Amino acid sequence: MSGWNEKAVPGQSGRVAVVTGANSGIGYVTARELARKGARVVLACRSGVRGSAAADRIVAEVPGADVEFGRLDLGDLASVREFAAAFPYERLDLLVNNAGVMALPYGTTVDGFETQFGVNHLGHFALTGLLLPMLLTTSGARVVTVSSEMHALANIDIDDLNSEHRYRRWIAYSRSKTANLLFTHELARRLAAHGADVVAAAAHPGYAATNLQGVAPRMEGRRLVGRVMEIGNRIFAQSAEAGALPTLYAATAPDVRSDSFTGPSFMMWRGAPGPSWRASWTLNDGAGERLWSASERLTGVAYDALKT
Ligand SMILES: NC(=O)c1ccc[n+]([C@@H]2O[C@H](COP(=O)([O-])OP(=O)(O)OC[C@H]3O[C@@H](n4cnc5c(N)ncnc54)[C@H](OP(=O)(O)O)[C@@H]3O)[C@@H](O)[C@H]2O)c1
Repeated sequence: MSGWNEKAVPGQSGRVAVVTGANSGIGYVTARELARKGARVVLACRSGVRGSAAADRIVAEVPGADVEFGRLDLGDLASVREFAAAFPYERLDLLVNNAGVMALPYGTTVDGFETQFGVNHLGHFALTGLLLPMLLTTSGARVVTVSSEMHALANIDIDDLNSEHRYRRWIAYSRSKTANLLFTHELARRLAAHGADVVAAAAHPGYAATNLQGVAPRMEGRRLVGRVMEIGNRIFAQSAEAGALPTLYAATAPDVRSDSFTGPSFMMWRGAPGPSWRASWTLNDGAGERLWSASERLTGVAYDALKT
């Protein structure tokens, strides 16, 4: 799709979107561009201060934008349940599972899951399941989950999803991003089996300069690593604006198919959105089913409408 950019996003008037992690980076740009085209956008963020500030910034950049903050901490299943229970609209056209953390030192979510698996995958699995009734009753709805080219580093370990036996931060990140793709694969399969009018697609931004790279060094006070990441961002990364294009494409382009994976077309790194390579293990039905069952068990969120 050479030359495709945010100007090609079709009109979104009358549509309701939820974007997780919309206060920063790719999520912020995604939310702003959807709002620019007329969507009502819920900025699902864990911090009220950062979420409300993002809503104000979008309105300053796009006068008249219909955006609002909704509190959602993906590292706390009670918060995910509260967000879904308080969701004020009867339709949901677009759910963008974007929020993420990368290569953090070992830690756990409120519910005791390893943080990267818990936030990047389980939180979004629970959120999607709880919002599913609304997605199923909204004609042409989509779920877009943001993965990474880094998924190619590691398949999930179904016997050690929470890295209890051994924790390696980059492997745990890669596994959580493989989980994003396997989730999309299994969701797409189940939606199709039930004849649902919902597309489940995945996207990745390539390498984009955002806050993602600085979080772990800041947490650990590793200033040198932080500085190296900053310089890397300046030299090699594309902008958050460019990084959001694959997500915007997967979320709005008319020809997007379920279980597709959109990313930057030049070496999965930068450039206009296009079909992206993915590791074969992200298309494995058995692995998708096993991850799905484990995710239902761990989160307590059952996708009753999509039982196989
Ligand atoms: N940037 C890249 O090069 C790159 C490459 C491949 C994939 N990705 C993926 O792109 C997505 C967006 O990342 P980004 O680059 O835009 O990074 P970012 O600027 O750090 O944004 C991440 C967002 O996720 C939110 N978040 C983190 N933990 C959360 C939680 N427990 N509950 C709710 N929200 C939470 C953050 O909120 P706070 O501000 O409150 O922390 C922030 O809004 C991620 O899924 C990432 O894995 C990025």
